[in-house]
Amino acid sequence: LANGLGSTPPMGWNSWNHFACDGNGEVVIRETADALVSTGLAAAGYRYVNLDDCWAEPERDAKGYLVANKKTFPHGIKALADYVHSKGLKLGIYSDAGYNTCAKAQPGSLGYEEKDAKTFASWGVDYLKYDNCNNGDLKPLQRYPDMSKALMKTGRPIYFSLCEWGDMHPAKWGAAYGNSWRTTDDIQDTWESMTSRADQNEVWAEYARPGGWNDPDMLEVGNGGMTNDEYIVHFSIWAISKAPLIIGCDVRHMSQNTYDIIANKEVIAVNQDRLGIQGKKVRMQGSQELWAAPLTGYRMAVLLVNRHAKDDAEITVHWDDIGLPTGTTVEARDLWLHKTLDAKFTDKMAFNLTSHTARMFVLTPLKSQMN
Ligand code: GLA
Repeated sequence: LANGLGSTPPMGWNSWNHFACDGNGEVVIRETADALVSTGLAAAGYRYVNLDDCWAEPERDAKGYLVANKKTFPHGIKALADYVHSKGLKLGIYSDAGYNTCAKAQPGSLGYEEKDAKTFASWGVDYLKYDNCNNGDLKPLQRYPDMSKALMKTGRPIYFSLCEWGDMHPAKWGAAYGNSWRTTDDIQDTWESMTSRADQNEVWAEYARPGGWNDPDMLEVGNGGMTNDEYIVHFSIWAISKAPLIIGCDVRHMSQNTYDIIANKEVIAVNQDRLGIQGKKVRMQGSQELWAAPLTGYRMAVLLVNRHAKDDAEITVHWDDIGLPTGTTVEARDLWLHKTLDAKFTDKMAFNLTSHTARMFVLTPLKSQMN
């Protein structure tokens, strides 16, 4: 969407994966904003603080306006946006392209697009996640464009996240109306769910570009359902896939391990690379996967994943798989060990990976070869 936003994938936090409806209240949101700043996550790029379902009263007011839930957001959304902005962050909100939201907790925006877009803009909202439930069987293209236009009409830059779950292949039309579009059903905090979202998202790689991204759903890192190594795989795939990096854990009480994953600046830099090319699987052999994405400066991001449930795997990166010319010698930066390998590599490199682990590198051709 040509609203000037999303030139790199959005980064932030959303309440849903950890709290669902229960944590969507102004205290949690304010404390989360504080924690994003005090931990350094905001400085690492996580700027959006996003409310999900259940922030509003179940009914509109007498004039048809959405009203913040009086119990959980007693000071209203405008005051919350002011607070979040005062921390140098941005506020996101949630609505639905239907008559009711998915949790059926509050009205949807179908038929109220202009009114709600104006309301969000007047509150200082910077991001809208727009869900797909209870839509009266109207097709997405009968519903999403109206909100897109309404947001544009407000004159406020509001990142527009289409949450259509991939049903009608939004990768094919999403870029005209939104800054990103979900390509999958909801993620759960399991290896199975995470890897299958990754697979479903990967097939749409050609459609991602600055201003419009494929969205395999929000991060589960830190929520406890996967091992630390599995969360490293999760974060690595999301990063190389140019997916929105929307944290879904409780950043007020996260472990050092969780922080070290989501705050990995070198992996984040791959996600935020200006070239904006979504990584793809370039070789698959059973449970061995090699992903690659070109980066600015003739560099290449590569991600090796061993998806086998128990066996080790030796995974080889062949230059012809990742699009480097034969004879090229590269330096390899290991993004999880934070270390440039001593060895230089020509034409291929191979590594041993234990079950459910990843290695991620940035390969830089040696300067002498680039004249
Ligand atoms: C849908 C969305 C989720 C979340 C819930 C809220 O399932 O896909 O991400 O927003 O609705 O009810």
